[in-house]
Amino acid sequence: MSRSPRVARTVSALRRELDSLRARKASIALVPTMGALHEGHISLVRLAKRRADKVVVSIFVNPTQFAPTEDFGSYPRTWKEDVAKLAAERVDLIWHPDAKAMYPDGFATRIVPEGAALAGLEDRFRPHFFGGVATVVAKLFTQCRPDVAIFGEKDYQQLRVVAQMARDLDLGVRVVGSRTVRERDGLAMSSRNVYLTADERRAAPTLHRVLKELAARLRAGDDMQAAIGDGAAAITEAGFALDYLEVRHAETLAPIAPNESGPKRILVAAKIGTTRLIDNIAA
Ligand code: PAJ
Repeated sequence: MSRSPRVARTVSALRRELDSLRARKASIALVPTMGALHEGHISLVRLAKRRADKVVVSIFVNPTQFAPTEDFGSYPRTWKEDVAKLAAERVDLIWHPDAKAMYPDGFATRIVPEGAALAGLEDRFRPHFFGGVATVVAKLFTQCRPDVAIFGEKDYQQLRVVAQMARDLDLGVRVVGSRTVRERDGLAMSSRNVYLTADERRAAPTLHRVLKELAARLRAGDDMQAAIGDGAAAITEAGFALDYLEVRHAETLAPIAPNESGPKRILVAAKIGTTRLIDNIAA
C-alpha cells in the first residue's frame, strides 16, 4: 500500500501544506474533481504528474453547480476508495473542503462567464451550471495557485469556459485539456455511469458510435444536416431523449457551417431513463 496523501480541509491548512510543497520552487499542478474517481480522473492525475513537480487533487461536490432538481444529494461519494486511488498515484495533497469552508456564511460573490458559457449547449439545459463551475474553479485556482490545472475534454464546454476565465482574469494558471477515457465499448467514463440500469448501460455506447459515424461522414464531405439528422434518429431509437447533437467551432463553440475552415467539435447530450450523459469528439 502506498502512503496516503496529506489531506487539507480548511483554507489555512491548505496554505500551510502548499507552502511546504512549494519549497525549493517546486511547480504545482491542480486536478479539480468531485470525487467518485474513475480511470478518467486518474488519467488527469497522470498528466498532472508529467506537467509539474507536485500534484494537488481537489475533491469537492460543488452544490452551486447543481440545480435543485439535479442529483447533488445522491451524487456518488466514495471518499475511502478515492484516497486509495490517489495514494496509488502518489498524489501529494488532497484539498477536501466542506461546503462551509468553501462558502462561509455570507458568501456573496459569483463569476458569470460569457462566451463559450453561452454557446447554447449545456447552458441551455443547465442554466445555473457554468456560473457555479466558474465560481468554484476560480476559488480553487486562487486557493491553490497552481502553475497548471488539468481538465478533461469529456466536459468540453467546461474546459473551454475555464480556459477562457483563466485568461480573462489573469489567474496565472495554464489550463490543459486531457483526452477522454472510455470503456472498451466506447462509453465515456463518468461518475454518473453508476446510475445506468443494465439495459441503459447496453444502449449507452450509442452516443460514441454516433459521434464517430458523424465525424466520418463530415470528413467524407456528406451533407452536415442530413448526417446530424441520421445521428439524432439513431440516438432516439436507442432509447435516449436527445438534448442536442451539434457541430461547433472547437475553440469558440460558435455554430460553424460545413464549408467553414477552423477546428470543429461534435458535441452530444442525451438522457436515458433518469441519467443524462454527455460526450464529444473532434470532427
Ligand atoms: P468531475 O465530473 O468529477 O470531473 C473532474 C474532471 O475529470 C473534469 O475535468 C472532467 O472533465 C474530467 N473527466 C471526467 N470524466 C472523464 C473521462 N472519461 N476522461 C477524461 N477526463 C474526465 O467536472 C467536474 O468534476 C466539476 O465540474 C469541477 C471542474 C470539479 C468543478 O466542480
